[in-house]
Amino acid sequence: MKAGLLGYWNNAAASVTRELRLDRMTLPLRKRQRPGHPPDLALISQAPLRFPEIGIFLVEKRMGSSRRAFLAKLARTKGFRVEEMYNDTVTHVVSEQNTRAEVCEWLEARSGHVVGNVPIVLDVSWFTESMGVAAPVEIEPRHYLVTEPSSVALEEECVAVPVYACQRRTPLSNQNQRFTDALETLAEEASFGSNEGRSLAFSRAASVLRSLPYALTRLEELNSLPGFGSHSKKVLQDMLEEGTSVEVQQVLHSERYRTLKLFTGIFGVGKKTAYRWYQEGLRTLDDLRKQEKKLNREQEAGLLHYADLNRPVSRPEADKVEELMQDVFLQFLPGAIVTLAGGFRRGKESGHDVDFLITHPEEGKEVGLLMNAVSWLSSQGLMLYHHMRKNSYNERWEMTTHASKGRMDHFESCFSIFKLNIQSEATISSSVVTEKTRSWKAVRVDLVIVPFAQYPYALLGWTGSKHFERELRRFAVHERKMILNSHCLYDTTQKAGLPAHCEEDIFAHLGLEYVPPSQRNA
Ligand code: UTP
Ligand code: MN
Repeated sequence: MKAGLLGYWNNAAASVTRELRLDRMTLPLRKRQRPGHPPDLALISQAPLRFPEIGIFLVEKRMGSSRRAFLAKLARTKGFRVEEMYNDTVTHVVSEQNTRAEVCEWLEARSGHVVGNVPIVLDVSWFTESMGVAAPVEIEPRHYLVTEPSSVALEEECVAVPVYACQRRTPLSNQNQRFTDALETLAEEASFGSNEGRSLAFSRAASVLRSLPYALTRLEELNSLPGFGSHSKKVLQDMLEEGTSVEVQQVLHSERYRTLKLFTGIFGVGKKTAYRWYQEGLRTLDDLRKQEKKLNREQEAGLLHYADLNRPVSRPEADKVEELMQDVFLQFLPGAIVTLAGGFRRGKESGHDVDFLITHPEEGKEVGLLMNAVSWLSSQGLMLYHHMRKNSYNERWEMTTHASKGRMDHFESCFSIFKLNIQSEATISSSVVTEKTRSWKAVRVDLVIVPFAQYPYALLGWTGSKHFERELRRFAVHERKMILNSHCLYDTTQKAGLPAHCEEDIFAHLGLEYVPPSQRNA
């Protein structure tokens, strides 16, 4: 097996360099299917009918066929009867973003049923809430679709930006980049000073602006948006009126901010350590190099590869790492599922690292896998640095407290600096190999081993963005009395964990519209 891998490796190293020079559009078609989605257990488990008296029909208009198919599958796994075609046994018509009149017209055109005979027509919120509790919830007035769209309601709908980032769709394209950059700078400056509340306020304001499909032009527009305190408003006012914010400029040029930015850019250096060094009078990377005894093994490696690790990882580079990881893990465990998570899963074209989740449909098979894979990668000289963390997940306390104690999760993981073979243009055109034209690049890679049953929660937790995740967890606690982490979703009212086969299940449990990864760039 290992000889095979090695053979592959040499070919792969050559093909990395070839492919990196090609435009993305001309890359050859992938051999394997990319497992961007968790395995679909819903296909496997079909629950017996629990509510035969209820017949659901999902209206495809505006919902789309794939989401409709997914929701139908979800409902069936929870024991609901879902009719593919509209017929006389349908009792609940469920629609998304349509008026009642539109649904009736649509049904009439397709099934020939007259408008008057249409049963209860409900908004998808009734459906998602029902899926959340795995039983039909009582129909409340808010679940009914309106007969006609009132112009007031429409106007309100247009301007109503939901409070929580997980209720919004935030694509990668940001119409308000200069404003969000400014607010993020202040958020970061506040967090350097351990003022988390203030930092969060700036982050929330930035996140709202990121979700807007238009560029902010007038200060009054903020009045209808959630999340803007007087400080954020003042910054935006300055930028709108003067073109810049003096406060932000001062932060950007301050010695403190610049030094802390520099130090936290070192792998293994958090805000507290950076601040301590700053207070001790250290200012440059050279200052640190001269004080080597201060650094642990991780920070030493971070300092050594500082330049590489602070150059963004490109999408082709991430694809290359993904291909290699797929091969390594599959060689050691056939059937293993390796998923690229983090910013790349959200569609980013570059990132600061590459995050992978690894699982196997047969739970337990993943035990020992990471050790084997990492040992092999190390033996090939492909790990410039790594440290491992054991699985420390304890179901009992995880479900009764927020319990992470500063850690985001308790999966078995490997945090590494990976040696990615590349070939720069310069190396090809010149036979002189200098440091600048060396054929590899240090890339931060995280490998996380996930037991299959926890996979949807882990995928959701590791896809980000960080703000989106933070908001999901805040929404769960404050709006649903549920605790969400990368291992489970726990309902404190029912005192029970809520099972999920895929990310969509988790959104449904929370009574949230599903937000695809590409719209989680909050
Ligand atoms: P990242 O820090 O890698 O962010 O964490 P990113 O969105 O991929 O951005 P870049 O492009 O690398 O800069 C990815 C997600 O994984 C979660 C984070 O909260 C984020 O949502 N995460 C990260 C964990 O759950 N646990 C960790 O130990 C680290
Ligand atoms: Mn990442």
